[in-house]
Amino acid sequence: MSFSPASRVSTFGTTIFAEMTQLAIQHKAINLSQGFPDFDGAAEVKAAAIAAINDGKNQYAISNGQPDLRKAIAAHAKRFYNQEANPDTEITVVSGATEGLFSSIIGILNPGDEAIIIEPFYDSYAPDVIMAGGVPRYVPLRAPDWHLDPDELTRAFNNKTKLIIVNTPHNPTGKVFSQSELQLIADLCIKWNVIAISDEVYEHILFDDTKHIRLAQLDGMRERTITISSHGKSFSFTGWKIGWCIAPPDLTIAVRRAHQFVTFASGTPFQHAAVNALSLDDEYYAALIRDYQTKRDFLTSALSNAGLDVSIPKGTYFIMAGIQPLGFDDDVTFCRYLTKEIGVAAIPPSAFYSDEHKALGKRYARFAF
Ligand SMILES: Cc1ncc(COP(=O)(O)O)c(C=O)c1O
Repeated sequence: MSFSPASRVSTFGTTIFAEMTQLAIQHKAINLSQGFPDFDGAAEVKAAAIAAINDGKNQYAISNGQPDLRKAIAAHAKRFYNQEANPDTEITVVSGATEGLFSSIIGILNPGDEAIIIEPFYDSYAPDVIMAGGVPRYVPLRAPDWHLDPDELTRAFNNKTKLIIVNTPHNPTGKVFSQSELQLIADLCIKWNVIAISDEVYEHILFDDTKHIRLAQLDGMRERTITISSHGKSFSFTGWKIGWCIAPPDLTIAVRRAHQFVTFASGTPFQHAAVNALSLDDEYYAALIRDYQTKRDFLTSALSNAGLDVSIPKGTYFIMAGIQPLGFDDDVTFCRYLTKEIGVAAIPPSAFYSDEHKALGKRYARFAF
């Protein structure tokens, strides 16, 4: 006898990361598919986690997040964005940005509500919307510069729209949204009374002096934006799964209502260590950028020399590269070939598009550096 998955998850399949990582292991390929650092974060942050474990900080944390950590998150928002956030009513610690996204989406969407998702997307957005009973509306970024077409975006908003999910700096294109694009999103959110989830997990991975703009800081957006950050991405501890949501009190209540029954709380010793991470000085952030910029420059030139059509990322640790110059027009075929025959694993970006726009991703491969 066997049981079938519930209808709400039956269409999801296995994530492309699991498949490509498996293929990479099987063929002993260099794995540039899944996005995580190939180094550990700061030694003092590791030491803080170990000290917390040895000090007996091993039982459940407060559901909303340890008070010291919420204070440190508020200080970080003030330090980098001059953003005011009340640690008691506007900050929630979650088990990675992935949980923050899920708790936010399930906490605010009602069945039948529409959620605008910009493509290519981080692959949990659409499943989260579907699990909440919402209806995804997809708006693709347009190559070669991955711009948002103002008319396409404007047409996606209507009186059923409850939510838009924005990701800047953007995985997988490496795009950093401009002030005017964010202003257009803000204007439409205000016009249609829509909530924005701003996934800013790559806020500290920026190149060529590019500035990251926090959507919540635009006029009229503070009261309608949930900003999501990841300790894993900013401090290179992706396996610890610590993230946070900053949102006005009414939206924070919605996030917390879901969060308390999704994970209840995140790992206690890692929350103590995250307080230490958030106190690192400016040189920590400068060094992070220098290291990633060296890797970006190395991989962009290696891929260009190999004949791919590379878009140079302004942020994140991903590169989208066009595969057509090598005679391929299908990303999955190319990524399987590259893993098996060349020994390098990449991700086929069609996985980051809806069926409606899948063809747009087929001419690229995504590499992580
Ligand atoms: C755009 C984006 N959002 C969220 C996440 C997940 O972050 P976390 O590891 O904190 O759950 C990722 C990880 O790859 C990502 O690329």
